[in-house]
Order: sequence, then C-alpha cells, then structure tokens
Amino acid sequence: MANIIDGKKISQEIKDELKAEVASLAEQGKKCALAVIQVGNDPASSVYVGNKKKACAYIGIQSVSYELPEETSEEELLDLIERLNQDAKVHGILCQLPLPKHIDEDRVIQAISPKKDVDGFHPQNVGALVIGQPGFVSCTPAGIIQLLKRNKIAIAGKHCVVIGRSNIVGKPMALLMLRENATVTVCHSRTQNLKEICREADILIVAIGKPRYIGADYVKEGAVVIDVGIHRNESNKLCGDVAYDEVEPKASYITPVPGGVGPMTIAMLMHNCVEAMKRES
Ligand code: GUN
Repeated sequence: MANIIDGKKISQEIKDELKAEVASLAEQGKKCALAVIQVGNDPASSVYVGNKKKACAYIGIQSVSYELPEETSEEELLDLIERLNQDAKVHGILCQLPLPKHIDEDRVIQAISPKKDVDGFHPQNVGALVIGQPGFVSCTPAGIIQLLKRNKIAIAGKHCVVIGRSNIVGKPMALLMLRENATVTVCHSRTQNLKEICREADILIVAIGKPRYIGADYVKEGAVVIDVGIHRNESNKLCGDVAYDEVEPKASYITPVPGGVGPMTIAMLMHNCVEAMKRES
C-alpha cells in the first residue's frame, strides 16, 4: 500500500504561507500584482485562468485581467506585453498558452521581461536553471519538487526516470532533479525499452500524455510514482497517465489524479509572483 501524496493539502499549505507573507509585505506598503493575459476563449484555458485569478484573490495578490479576442494580432499582443514590462506596479506577467495559431508563441515568451516571467518559460530563466543560477522555474516541475521534499522523500543519489521532454515539464523536471543530485534518465516517444528503463526508477515521473499508459509492469516495487497527466476517461472521470489502481499497491508513494500534481502548478505560480515582487523591491 502506497503513501498517497496529497497535492491538495500541500498546495493549500503553500498558499497559506504565501498569504501570510503577502500580508506582512502589505504592511510595509508593498503590493503584488499579476497581469493575466488570455487570447481567445479556449474553454480549458478559461478554467485555468479562472483558477489562477481565484488563487491570487485568496493570497492577496492583485490580478489584472486582459481578455483579448481571438483575432488579436501578434503586434498588439507584443505591444501589451511591452507596456506591462514597463509598468512598475506589475510584478508578474502570465500569458496563457496555447495562443491562436497566427501568433508565434516563442516570440511572445521572449517578449516577457525575464524578471516578470513567472511561468519560467523565457530562455534566460531556462538557461539559469541549466547552469544553477537563480531565476524563475516552470511551475509544474517546481511543484513536484515541493511534493517530494514536503513528504521527506530523499532525492539525492536516487535514479529518477522522467517520461516526457516538453519545455514546460519534462526538460525542467530533469534539470531540477539533477540539481537535487538525482541520477536522471529522460525518456520520450522514441525511447526503446521504455518499460525496462522505467523498472529501474526509484522515482518515476510520468508526463507522457496518454491515459493510464503506465501499468504495474513499468514500476519497481517500492518506487515513488508522480503522475503529471490529466485526462477524462469514457465515463467522464478524471484519470492520469498512470493506471493508479494497478500501480498503487506496488509504489511506496504515489500522486492521485486529481489532487496530486495539478494543484501544485498554481501554488508555485503564486510563489513565483511573490518572489518577483521581493526581487524587484
Ligand atoms: N498552458 C498550460 N499550462 C500552462 C502554464 O503553466 N502556463 C501558461 N502560461 N500556459 C499554460
């Protein structure tokens, strides 16, 4: 029987710590603001953006919303970002992805000042992570580190297998685990012998994007299993990339879906916003 890693509880702890910190900064006259940009009205993005604004309200961060129409041009979006870069009252800028197809996401990511890049997507922040310098770290992988640390799960010297090599999750996750002195293997869609490699993992982090892909035969007895996936199955129930019911009896620790990794992303975004303000003042 695995210990269940409670992401809901840990994200709440982090939000409460941040709320107290924001209150004490407010007493010194320091106010924190996050600009939240959404282009178009993709329903999933609207849910994420709504949750981010709710978390801001809970913690005491002012969120300033920019809901732009689908037809917004790249130039208009870049102009808005430039204005927000110059605005001393704005500490963080979040531009919800994906953007409409006519807008170049890389250009937009690079336009956000690295000092306000609370998503940790700017090449300068990614580079800082690579060479171990301070900067903003992508929120989902940073949240997974918190889940491990706050459950007192040892990382140093362990073999960590990360499945997935996206810029948002897989790559920064591998770099963070390396920074914590794990031995890291990164697997992806072209990996041969995926099952055998996964079975070597002390810590298995799954961001494969396929519902219930990782069964018990991919997992070593006593491994720690972190599931980044989120899907809806045929009966409209949420599930992850891991076949939870099969894997749970074999794992020492496991994240559920929902209530595992998901809530941590927003908690770490809030953490980055507060950090952005502290660094500026
Ligand atoms: N779209 C899906 N996840 C994210 C995220 O973490 N940040 C932004 N900006 N867009 C996203």
